[in-house]
Amino acid sequence: MLLLKNARVVDYISGLDGEKDILINAGEIISISENITENAERIIDCKGLTAIPGLFDMHVHARDPGGLHKEDLLTCSEAAAAGGVTGFLCMPNTVPVIDNEETLNYLAEKAKTCKVKIYSSCAITKGQEGKEICDIGRLKKAANGNFCIAMTDDGRPVKSARVMGEAMIKAGDEKVLMISHCEDMDIAGGGLINAGIVSIKLGLWGLHRSSENIITSREISLARDLREKVHIAHVSTKEAVAEIRSAKAQGVGVTCEAAPHHYTLTEDKLYEKDADYRMNPPLRLRADIDAIIEGLRDGTIDCIATDHAPHTPDEKYYFHTAPNGVIGLETSLAVTLTFLVHTGKLSMFDIVRLMCVNPRKILGIFGIKGENGGSIAIGHTADITLFDPYEEWTVDTAQFKSKSRNSCFKGMKLKGRVKHTIVNGNVVYSFAP
Ligand code: NCD
Ligand code: ZN
Repeated sequence: MLLLKNARVVDYISGLDGEKDILINAGEIISISENITENAERIIDCKGLTAIPGLFDMHVHARDPGGLHKEDLLTCSEAAAAGGVTGFLCMPNTVPVIDNEETLNYLAEKAKTCKVKIYSSCAITKGQEGKEICDIGRLKKAANGNFCIAMTDDGRPVKSARVMGEAMIKAGDEKVLMISHCEDMDIAGGGLINAGIVSIKLGLWGLHRSSENIITSREISLARDLREKVHIAHVSTKEAVAEIRSAKAQGVGVTCEAAPHHYTLTEDKLYEKDADYRMNPPLRLRADIDAIIEGLRDGTIDCIATDHAPHTPDEKYYFHTAPNGVIGLETSLAVTLTFLVHTGKLSMFDIVRLMCVNPRKILGIFGIKGENGGSIAIGHTADITLFDPYEEWTVDTAQFKSKSRNSCFKGMKLKGRVKHTIVNGNVVYSFAP
């Protein structure tokens, strides 16, 4: 038994926000009450700490297989645990691409040795080439049918609207989530950063916002016309937020996520010409940040996902040729607390809704007994994140569990620090200064 004493428990589902003790037995929460005196094997004094359901990150590039110099499933799960993330969804742009049963089985086996709960997406099209749609009926059954729960060509868009529409229907039939990386490659045309003042001043080819906006509109049209569902990954423009808001009001089956860098940093960061600030979609403008924050507040944006995209320092060395992407698992909670909660823009309940409850609900894994957290309630699996909301620290990438160092929050002072991460009632991470 594990006993957590005097934590401020914040649970969006039950509406609980109060100082409680939590008793855990055999991986399950068996009691939540004011003063539990049970003789547990381990007692953690949580005075000053906040307890929320473990975070779930639905957009993670674990680089396994094929990119093990950047990250692997084990280091990725260590990074997750250090960030208070008790479960995540892998993206399929690996080598080989996750478009076959063998790779899914390999990953599912490896996931069993990891500290946190891991699920995978598979590609929409073979080799992410945009042509032949993967046999999702078969892939879904891989690894005992409980591992491949989404389809996406993330890293790339699906070029053909016809192919995307057909894939949406297949994903709907098989009840797996269709996730779209919205980008029009003809418009993007190899741009390096947001198309705007900074790209003009630096003389760089820009990634125009219409590249994202056009494909977001296309996916919404398809979902509406086909009466299917689509989840839009990493929303970064105010126009996309507005489009999704109006689609939702019309009852279209669209959900979406935003990444921490997109609600905190602007394209001005690119003046430093440091590739650790380059990702896709790129950092944009203050007006986009404001629209994303409003979207997080009013439910237009359903959840927060990091788009954790590790690349090595060598790969990130040259600004112009570096690949896009930033890591995010070890900073997402602290960044969100610092920029959105401590500034009064979001409440602690919002954090739980956006980072713990909704990702699981969107993926259809909320509250599956014995598998997933999502709520601190009696009978629920004990997947819990404990953090000090007021502790200040400076992001030192040398301390990261991730193999990579490409954080766009490096050197930044943040307020809020993960202290313990609990999965199935086991403490899988404790902060040690
Ligand atoms: C992602 C990666 O590195 O896999 N990079 C990123 O900037 N988000 C792929 C992608 O979505 O472009
Ligand atoms: Zn993407």
